[in-house]
Amino acid sequence: MKSTAPHGPLLVSLEGLDGSGKTTQIDRIVEFYEQRNPRGVVVTREPGGTEVGERIRHIVLEHASLDPRTELLLLFAARVQHIKAVIAPALALGKTVVCDRYLDATYAYQGYGRGLGAPLIDGLSDLLAIPPPDLTLFFDVPVRVALARRAGRTPDRIEAEGEAFFERVREGYQARARAEPERFVVIPAAGSLADVAQAVDAALAARN
Ligand SMILES: Nc1ncnc2c1ncn2[C@@H]1O[C@H](COP(=O)(O)OP(=O)(O)OP(=O)(O)O)[C@@H](O)[C@H]1O
Ligand SMILES: [Mg+2]
Repeated sequence: MKSTAPHGPLLVSLEGLDGSGKTTQIDRIVEFYEQRNPRGVVVTREPGGTEVGERIRHIVLEHASLDPRTELLLLFAARVQHIKAVIAPALALGKTVVCDRYLDATYAYQGYGRGLGAPLIDGLSDLLAIPPPDLTLFFDVPVRVALARRAGRTPDRIEAEGEAFFERVREGYQARARAEPERFVVIPAAGSLADVAQAVDAALAARN
């Protein structure tokens, strides 16, 4: 009998700087898994993905001033709710979950960008039993490319940070990718839309 059990990665996260092109490529990634997982695909994002998570997103991205630790704890609060209400139920049904930003963003932005360091995030992650992603696509672009791509937008609270902040965030992502090469695929994302799409296709085919 042909098995309909899902195979391949189930929790897939997309990571990279603001303006690196994650959301631009998401439909292609979702379509890939829809063709492979008969149980379906759930597309979601962080911070957000639930009603309370979207409210926390608004605070984190628009509030004038937050202690970095407040920012970190708000992001974990949103994540716990997201896992409970969206991610865990979908995984339990054998669905693929494609999440636009997830745990590595916290390491990159709050750990490296804000300078809170990895041990605090490791500790919270363990205590809260945050499920690690099975596969992470890291859209890597130089900071200047990301800045240029979002030139037309009104920056949110995090996007308003300077170049040095985003250099640290990029270093953070790169360090995470180096530390876990079996989970990460680094997608060189500074090229044209067609080039990045091709790199995404290659990454998905290689890690399926
Ligand atoms: N390969 C590319 N070449 C040129 N422009 C691109 C490319 N990929 C995306 N863009 C453009 O760059 C902008 C940012 O892309 P996108 O919104 O997908 O980034 P993002 O990683 O989702 O950012 P954020 O983290 O802020 O949501 C968009 O205007 C998009 O059309
Ligand atoms: Mg996006």
